[in-house]
Amino acid sequence: MNQSYQIPSLDDGAERLVTTDSRIRRCIEKAMNKKIELWQEDGIRRIANEIMYLFKSYKSNSKTISYSSLETQIAYVIAYYPNYIETVNEILKIVNIRESSKKEDSTRTIPIYENWIKYFAEKENQKFNIAILGSGPAPELYGLKRFFDRLFYSSKLNRKYFPEITVDLFESQPDWQWTIQYVTKALMYKTESIQRIGTNFIQTNLSNQFSSDHKELKDSYHLIILQNVANEILEENKFFMENLKLFLKRVKPEIGYCVVATRGRQNSKLMTLIRDHVEHESHLRLVIDERSELDFSSYQKQDRKLKKHIFSQIPFEYRSMNNNSKAIVIKSVKV
Ligand SMILES: C[S@@+](CC[C@H](N)C(=O)[O-])C[C@H]1O[C@@H](n2cnc3c(N)ncnc32)[C@H](O)[C@@H]1O
Repeated sequence: MNQSYQIPSLDDGAERLVTTDSRIRRCIEKAMNKKIELWQEDGIRRIANEIMYLFKSYKSNSKTISYSSLETQIAYVIAYYPNYIETVNEILKIVNIRESSKKEDSTRTIPIYENWIKYFAEKENQKFNIAILGSGPAPELYGLKRFFDRLFYSSKLNRKYFPEITVDLFESQPDWQWTIQYVTKALMYKTESIQRIGTNFIQTNLSNQFSSDHKELKDSYHLIILQNVANEILEENKFFMENLKLFLKRVKPEIGYCVVATRGRQNSKLMTLIRDHVEHESHLRLVIDERSELDFSSYQKQDRKLKKHIFSQIPFEYRSMNNNSKAIVIKSVKV
Protein backbone atom coordinates (compact mmCIF):
# COMPACT_ATOMS: atom_id res chain seq x y z
CA MET A 1 0.00 0.00 0.00
CA ASN A 2 1.23 3.50 -0.77
CA GLN A 3 2.39 5.54 2.15
CA SER A 4 0.16 8.43 3.21
CA TYR A 5 1.39 11.99 2.79
CA GLN A 6 0.16 15.54 2.81
CA ILE A 7 0.38 17.74 -0.23
CA PRO A 8 3.20 20.18 0.41
CA SER A 9 1.96 23.75 0.34
CA LEU A 10 3.30 26.34 -2.09
CA ASP A 11 5.33 28.04 0.58
CA ASP A 12 6.97 24.89 1.80
CA GLY A 13 10.12 23.56 0.29
CA ALA A 14 11.51 26.83 -0.91
CA GLU A 15 11.65 29.32 1.91
CA ARG A 16 14.42 31.83 1.36
CA LEU A 17 17.49 31.77 3.47
CA VAL A 18 17.83 34.83 5.64
CA THR A 19 21.55 34.84 6.25
CA THR A 20 24.50 32.76 5.15
CA ASP A 21 27.30 35.28 4.95
CA SER A 22 28.40 35.00 8.58
CA ARG A 23 28.22 31.20 8.46
CA ILE A 24 30.28 31.11 5.29
CA ARG A 25 32.88 33.38 6.87
CA ARG A 26 33.06 31.08 9.89
CA CYS A 27 33.48 27.99 7.66
CA ILE A 28 36.40 29.63 5.88
CA GLU A 29 37.94 30.76 9.18
CA LYS A 30 37.68 27.19 10.48
CA ALA A 31 39.27 25.72 7.35
CA MET A 32 42.12 28.28 7.55
CA ASN A 33 42.33 27.87 11.30
CA LYS A 34 42.40 31.66 11.71
CA LYS A 35 39.83 34.38 12.45
CA ILE A 36 39.48 36.92 9.67
CA GLU A 37 40.86 39.74 11.84
CA LEU A 38 44.14 37.80 12.05
CA TRP A 39 44.49 37.19 8.31
CA GLN A 40 47.53 38.82 6.70
CA GLU A 41 46.78 42.12 5.01
CA ASP A 42 48.12 40.97 1.64
CA GLY A 43 45.99 37.81 1.84
CA ILE A 44 42.89 39.95 2.38
CA ARG A 45 43.90 42.21 -0.50
CA ARG A 46 44.33 39.21 -2.80
CA ILE A 47 40.79 38.06 -2.01
CA ALA A 48 39.42 41.56 -2.64
CA ASN A 49 41.34 41.66 -5.94
CA GLU A 50 39.86 38.30 -6.92
CA ILE A 51 36.34 39.61 -6.24
CA MET A 52 37.14 42.45 -8.66
CA TYR A 53 38.60 39.93 -11.13
CA LEU A 54 35.38 37.87 -11.07
CA PHE A 55 33.18 40.96 -11.26
CA LYS A 56 35.05 42.24 -14.36
CA SER A 57 35.18 38.78 -15.95
CA TYR A 58 31.42 38.29 -15.66
CA LYS A 59 30.75 41.83 -16.84
CA SER A 60 32.93 41.42 -19.91
CA ASN A 61 31.47 37.97 -20.61
CA SER A 62 34.91 36.34 -20.38
CA LYS A 63 35.04 32.64 -21.30
CA THR A 64 38.31 31.87 -19.60
CA ILE A 65 37.77 32.41 -15.92
CA SER A 66 40.22 30.60 -13.69
CA TYR A 67 38.95 29.46 -10.30
CA SER A 68 42.02 27.39 -9.50
CA SER A 69 43.52 29.56 -6.76
CA LEU A 70 42.17 29.36 -3.24
CA GLU A 71 41.78 33.16 -3.18
CA THR A 72 39.49 33.09 -6.25
CA GLN A 73 37.38 30.38 -4.68
CA ILE A 74 37.09 32.28 -1.41
CA ALA A 75 36.21 35.41 -3.43
CA TYR A 76 33.43 33.53 -5.26
CA VAL A 77 32.12 32.03 -2.05
CA ILE A 78 32.02 35.40 -0.30
CA ALA A 79 30.68 37.56 -3.12
CA TYR A 80 28.52 35.26 -5.27
CA TYR A 81 27.72 31.98 -3.56
CA PRO A 82 25.12 33.33 -1.05
CA ASN A 83 23.05 34.72 -3.93
CA TYR A 84 22.87 31.38 -5.70
CA ILE A 85 21.85 29.01 -2.93
CA GLU A 86 18.12 29.51 -3.40
CA THR A 87 17.85 30.22 -7.13
CA VAL A 88 16.82 26.67 -8.11
CA ASN A 89 14.40 26.50 -5.15
CA GLU A 90 12.79 29.75 -6.25
CA ILE A 91 12.48 28.47 -9.81
CA LEU A 92 10.92 25.19 -8.60
CA LYS A 93 8.49 27.28 -6.58
CA ILE A 94 7.43 29.11 -9.75
CA VAL A 95 7.02 25.76 -11.56
CA ASN A 96 4.86 24.52 -8.68
CA ILE A 97 2.69 27.64 -8.70
CA ARG A 98 2.21 27.51 -12.47
CA GLU A 99 1.39 23.82 -12.47
CA SER A 100 -1.01 24.27 -9.53
CA SER A 101 -2.94 26.98 -11.30
CA LYS A 102 -3.90 24.73 -14.21
CA LYS A 103 -7.59 23.83 -14.45
CA GLU A 104 -8.67 20.49 -13.04
CA ASP A 105 -9.38 18.34 -16.07
CA SER A 106 -8.03 15.13 -17.48
CA THR A 107 -4.87 16.85 -18.70
CA ARG A 108 -4.13 18.50 -15.36
CA THR A 109 -0.45 18.54 -14.46
CA ILE A 110 0.36 17.37 -10.97
CA PRO A 111 2.36 20.19 -9.38
CA ILE A 112 6.01 19.36 -8.96
CA TYR A 113 6.08 19.19 -5.13
CA GLU A 114 3.07 16.85 -5.03
CA ASN A 115 4.40 14.85 -7.97
CA TRP A 116 7.70 14.18 -6.24
CA ILE A 117 6.17 13.34 -2.86
CA LYS A 118 3.74 10.97 -4.57
CA TYR A 119 6.67 9.30 -6.33
CA PHE A 120 8.61 8.92 -3.05
CA ALA A 121 5.52 7.43 -1.38
CA GLU A 122 5.31 4.66 -3.97
CA LYS A 123 8.11 2.66 -2.38
CA GLU A 124 10.81 2.86 0.23
CA ASN A 125 14.12 4.48 -0.73
CA GLN A 126 13.23 5.57 -4.21
CA LYS A 127 16.26 6.65 -6.17
CA PHE A 128 16.44 10.37 -6.92
CA ASN A 129 19.39 11.26 -9.13
CA ILE A 130 20.49 14.86 -9.52
CA ALA A 131 23.22 16.19 -11.83
CA ILE A 132 24.64 19.67 -11.38
CA LEU A 133 26.55 20.69 -14.49
CA GLY A 134 29.32 23.25 -13.91
CA SER A 135 28.77 22.98 -10.18
CA GLY A 136 31.74 25.02 -8.97
CA PRO A 137 31.39 25.17 -5.16
CA ALA A 138 27.78 23.97 -5.58
CA PRO A 139 25.63 26.51 -3.74
CA GLU A 140 22.74 24.65 -5.44
CA LEU A 141 23.63 21.56 -3.43
CA TYR A 142 23.16 23.35 -0.12
CA GLY A 143 19.96 24.91 -1.49
CA LEU A 144 18.62 21.49 -2.50
CA LYS A 145 19.37 20.11 0.92
CA ARG A 146 17.24 22.87 2.43
CA PHE A 147 14.54 22.31 -0.19
CA PHE A 148 14.23 18.58 0.46
CA ASP A 149 14.34 18.99 4.23
CA ARG A 150 11.33 21.32 4.04
CA LEU A 151 9.54 19.25 1.43
CA PHE A 152 9.76 16.09 3.55
CA TYR A 153 8.86 17.92 6.71
CA SER A 154 5.72 19.47 5.22
CA SER A 155 4.67 16.25 3.47
CA LYS A 156 4.55 14.30 6.76
CA LEU A 157 5.93 11.37 4.79
CA ASN A 158 7.20 8.48 6.90
CA ARG A 159 11.01 8.61 7.07
CA LYS A 160 11.21 5.15 5.49
CA TYR A 161 9.90 6.68 2.30
CA PHE A 162 12.52 9.37 2.00
CA PRO A 163 14.36 8.77 -1.25
CA GLU A 164 17.99 7.94 -1.73
CA ILE A 165 19.21 11.24 -3.18
CA THR A 166 22.50 11.25 -5.08
CA VAL A 167 23.98 14.40 -6.53
CA ASP A 168 26.69 14.20 -9.21
CA LEU A 169 28.70 17.39 -9.47
CA PHE A 170 30.13 17.73 -12.98
CA GLU A 171 32.89 20.32 -12.94
CA SER A 172 36.00 20.91 -15.01
CA GLN A 173 38.16 22.47 -12.29
CA PRO A 174 39.34 19.97 -9.64
CA ASP A 175 40.35 22.52 -7.03
CA TRP A 176 36.73 23.31 -6.13
CA GLN A 177 36.76 20.17 -3.99
CA TRP A 178 38.37 22.18 -1.19
CA THR A 179 35.46 24.62 -1.11
CA ILE A 180 32.85 21.90 -1.47
CA GLN A 181 34.37 20.12 1.50
CA TYR A 182 34.98 23.07 3.81
CA VAL A 183 32.08 25.33 2.88
CA THR A 184 29.22 23.52 1.14
CA LYS A 185 29.35 20.27 3.07
CA ALA A 186 30.13 22.13 6.29
CA LEU A 187 27.00 24.26 5.77
CA MET A 188 24.90 21.24 4.84
CA TYR A 189 25.67 18.98 7.72
CA LYS A 190 26.20 21.47 10.50
CA THR A 191 22.68 21.18 11.78
CA GLU A 192 20.59 18.07 12.33
CA SER A 193 18.89 17.32 9.06
CA ILE A 194 16.11 15.14 7.89
CA GLN A 195 17.88 13.80 4.86
CA ARG A 196 21.46 13.01 4.00
CA ILE A 197 22.44 13.45 0.39
CA GLY A 198 25.17 11.39 -1.31
CA THR A 199 27.49 13.47 -3.50
CA ASN A 200 30.06 12.58 -6.16
CA PHE A 201 32.51 15.08 -7.56
CA ILE A 202 33.10 14.23 -11.21
CA GLN A 203 35.91 16.18 -12.76
CA THR A 204 35.09 16.48 -16.42
CA ASN A 205 35.09 19.11 -19.11
CA LEU A 206 31.56 19.28 -20.48
CA SER A 207 32.85 21.05 -23.58
CA ASN A 208 34.64 17.88 -24.68
CA GLN A 209 32.76 15.22 -26.56
CA PHE A 210 31.10 12.56 -24.36
CA SER A 211 30.31 9.11 -25.69
CA SER A 212 26.64 8.18 -25.26
CA ASP A 213 27.69 5.47 -22.81
CA HIS A 214 29.97 7.81 -20.87
CA LYS A 215 30.69 5.93 -17.66
CA GLU A 216 29.63 8.81 -15.43
CA LEU A 217 26.15 9.12 -16.93
CA LYS A 218 23.36 7.62 -14.84
CA ASP A 219 20.57 5.66 -16.53
CA SER A 220 17.97 8.06 -15.25
CA TYR A 221 17.91 11.60 -13.82
CA HIS A 222 15.20 13.27 -11.75
CA LEU A 223 16.74 16.73 -11.74
CA ILE A 224 19.42 18.33 -13.89
CA ILE A 225 20.71 21.78 -13.03
CA LEU A 226 22.71 24.16 -15.16
CA GLN A 227 23.19 27.33 -13.17
CA ASN A 228 25.43 30.27 -14.10
CA VAL A 229 27.53 28.24 -16.50
CA ALA A 230 26.32 29.28 -19.96
CA ASN A 231 28.51 32.42 -19.95
CA GLU A 232 31.64 30.29 -19.71
CA ILE A 233 30.82 28.08 -22.69
CA LEU A 234 32.29 29.18 -26.02
CA GLU A 235 29.45 29.99 -28.42
CA GLU A 236 31.08 27.90 -31.16
CA ASN A 237 31.49 24.84 -28.95
CA LYS A 238 28.96 22.29 -30.10
CA PHE A 239 29.91 19.48 -27.75
CA PHE A 240 28.47 21.13 -24.66
CA MET A 241 25.01 21.10 -26.25
CA GLU A 242 25.51 17.55 -27.53
CA ASN A 243 26.45 16.45 -24.01
CA LEU A 244 23.45 18.23 -22.55
CA LYS A 245 21.25 16.29 -24.98
CA LEU A 246 22.66 13.05 -23.57
CA PHE A 247 21.60 14.15 -20.10
CA LEU A 248 18.16 15.28 -21.32
CA LYS A 249 17.57 11.91 -22.94
CA ARG A 250 17.89 10.33 -19.51
CA VAL A 251 15.47 12.56 -17.61
CA LYS A 252 12.81 10.34 -16.05
CA PRO A 253 9.47 10.82 -17.82
CA GLU A 254 6.75 12.59 -15.82
CA ILE A 255 9.03 12.96 -12.78
CA GLY A 256 12.17 14.60 -14.04
CA TYR A 257 13.02 18.23 -14.80
CA CYS A 258 15.99 20.20 -16.05
CA VAL A 259 16.49 23.72 -14.66
CA VAL A 260 18.66 26.18 -16.55
CA ALA A 261 19.33 29.45 -14.73
CA THR A 262 21.49 32.13 -16.24
CA ARG A 263 22.40 35.52 -14.88
CA GLY A 264 22.91 38.70 -16.83
CA ARG A 265 23.76 38.53 -20.52
CA GLN A 266 24.75 34.89 -20.64
CA ASN A 267 25.38 32.77 -23.71
CA SER A 268 22.09 33.38 -25.48
CA LYS A 269 23.10 31.10 -28.36
CA LEU A 270 23.17 28.14 -25.97
CA MET A 271 19.75 29.11 -24.61
CA THR A 272 18.37 29.26 -28.16
CA LEU A 273 19.86 25.83 -28.92
CA ILE A 274 18.23 24.43 -25.78
CA ARG A 275 14.80 25.87 -26.75
CA ASP A 276 15.14 24.53 -30.32
CA HIS A 277 16.08 21.11 -29.06
CA VAL A 278 13.07 20.96 -26.72
CA GLU A 279 10.78 22.03 -29.54
CA HIS A 280 11.96 19.14 -31.70
CA GLU A 281 11.85 16.44 -29.02
CA SER A 282 8.39 15.07 -28.28
CA HIS A 283 9.48 13.75 -24.87
CA LEU A 284 10.51 17.22 -23.67
CA ARG A 285 8.28 20.13 -22.75
CA LEU A 286 9.23 23.68 -21.84
CA VAL A 287 7.40 24.50 -18.61
CA ILE A 288 9.13 27.81 -17.97
CA ASP A 289 10.86 30.11 -20.40
CA GLU A 290 11.56 33.43 -18.69
CA ARG A 291 13.46 35.69 -21.01
CA SER A 292 13.21 38.72 -18.82
CA GLU A 293 15.04 38.53 -15.55
CA LEU A 294 13.43 37.06 -12.47
CA ASP A 295 14.17 38.96 -9.33
CA PHE A 296 15.90 36.74 -6.81
CA SER A 297 17.28 39.62 -4.77
CA SER A 298 19.01 38.27 -1.78
CA TYR A 299 17.49 38.39 1.65
CA GLN A 300 20.83 37.87 3.29
CA LYS A 301 22.00 40.12 6.05
CA GLN A 302 25.39 41.67 5.79
CA ASP A 303 28.23 40.18 7.79
CA ARG A 304 29.94 42.91 9.80
CA LYS A 305 33.40 41.33 9.54
CA LEU A 306 33.25 40.68 5.80
CA LYS A 307 32.12 44.24 5.31
CA LYS A 308 34.94 45.62 7.44
CA HIS A 309 37.82 43.43 6.22
CA ILE A 310 36.99 42.50 2.62
CA PHE A 311 34.42 44.86 1.13
CA SER A 312 36.13 47.98 2.50
CA GLN A 313 38.80 47.25 -0.17
CA ILE A 314 36.36 47.11 -3.07
CA PRO A 315 34.84 50.04 -4.97
CA PHE A 316 31.25 48.91 -4.74
CA GLU A 317 28.72 48.36 -2.00
CA TYR A 318 28.68 45.07 -0.15
CA ARG A 319 25.63 43.06 -1.31
CA SER A 320 24.93 45.40 -4.18
CA MET A 321 25.42 42.72 -6.86
CA ASN A 322 22.58 41.97 -9.20
CA ASN A 323 21.06 38.60 -8.40
CA ASN A 324 18.52 38.37 -11.21
CA SER A 325 18.35 35.30 -13.43
CA LYS A 326 16.64 34.12 -16.54
CA ALA A 327 15.26 30.61 -16.39
CA ILE A 328 14.30 27.71 -18.59
CA VAL A 329 12.68 24.63 -17.08
CA ILE A 330 12.21 21.49 -19.13
CA LYS A 331 10.03 18.56 -18.15
CA SER A 332 10.32 15.07 -19.55
CA VAL A 333 6.96 13.60 -20.52
CA LYS A 334 5.75 10.17 -21.61
CA VAL A 335 5.21 9.86 -25.35
C1 LIG B 1 30.17 30.79 -12.18
S1 LIG B 1 30.50 29.18 -11.73
C2 LIG B 1 28.87 28.64 -11.25
C3 LIG B 1 28.93 27.66 -10.15
C4 LIG B 1 27.55 27.29 -9.60
N1 LIG B 1 26.78 26.55 -10.56
C5 LIG B 1 26.82 28.52 -9.13
O1 LIG B 1 25.72 28.84 -9.61
O2 LIG B 1 27.34 29.20 -8.24
C6 LIG B 1 30.67 28.34 -13.28
C7 LIG B 1 31.32 26.98 -13.11
O3 LIG B 1 31.21 26.26 -14.35
C8 LIG B 1 32.42 25.56 -14.56
N2 LIG B 1 32.56 25.29 -15.99
C9 LIG B 1 32.70 26.18 -16.98
N3 LIG B 1 32.83 25.55 -18.17
C10 LIG B 1 32.76 24.22 -17.91
C11 LIG B 1 32.84 23.06 -18.69
N4 LIG B 1 33.05 23.14 -20.00
N5 LIG B 1 32.75 21.85 -18.09
C12 LIG B 1 32.57 21.75 -16.76
N6 LIG B 1 32.48 22.83 -15.93
C13 LIG B 1 32.58 24.05 -16.51
C14 LIG B 1 33.47 26.53 -14.05
O4 LIG B 1 34.69 25.89 -13.78
C15 LIG B 1 32.79 27.08 -12.81
O5 LIG B 1 33.10 26.33 -11.68
